Amino acid sequence: GEELRGLLLSRILDVPDYPKPGVLFKDITPLLADAAAFGALTHALAELCAKHGATKVVGLEARGFILAAPAAVRAGIGFVPVRKAGKLPGATLGQAYELEYGTAEIEIHADALEPGDRVLVIDDVLATGGTAEASLRLIRRAGAEVAAVAVLLELGFLDGRSRLLPALDSAPLEALITI
Ligand code: PRP
Ligand code: MG
Repeated sequence: GEELRGLLLSRILDVPDYPKPGVLFKDITPLLADAAAFGALTHALAELCAKHGATKVVGLEARGFILAAPAAVRAGIGFVPVRKAGKLPGATLGQAYELEYGTAEIEIHADALEPGDRVLVIDDVLATGGTAEASLRLIRRAGAEVAAVAVLLELGFLDGRSRLLPALDSAPLEALITI
């Protein structure tokens, strides 16, 4: 509730003009360094796994890994990484997505999910929604169902939620904090 939100928000640091002038970077490292805050976040994300009947957690490289892995362990379900292209050793599925300048690509192991799996996707921040959107395509192409997407922080003014809506296909988007 509001108490959790306040705790989490108090541990996210605003860094002006990073990584470039005019951008206000949201630094979650103080939250990660605070055992009470990181523990409360992990607990909240694990509860979302149960709420949405997830059978797997997918974490999005790199910052999403930090939140997703402990949540999966706490929920008692497996963790599957979505990695930046070229990092996974097995057969992969790849999905390109738009960046502010140019494109990027993320990948998942083709056999990491199976029909009947219900996936909770976890990332730190929803900005334009491009990363999350690409991950949802990968999960469906890998044969699984999207249970929900969970982010610590939604940057509402960038309206990633609208961009993500078609790819969500009625799966919920859970933001612990929206600014
Ligand atoms: C950041 C953030 C999200 C994504 C959000 O990741 O961690 O994954 O951007 O932006 P979007 O909604 O506009 O796609 P980034 O690719 O900077 O790298 P990192 O997680 O590896 O640090
Ligand atoms: Mg990221």
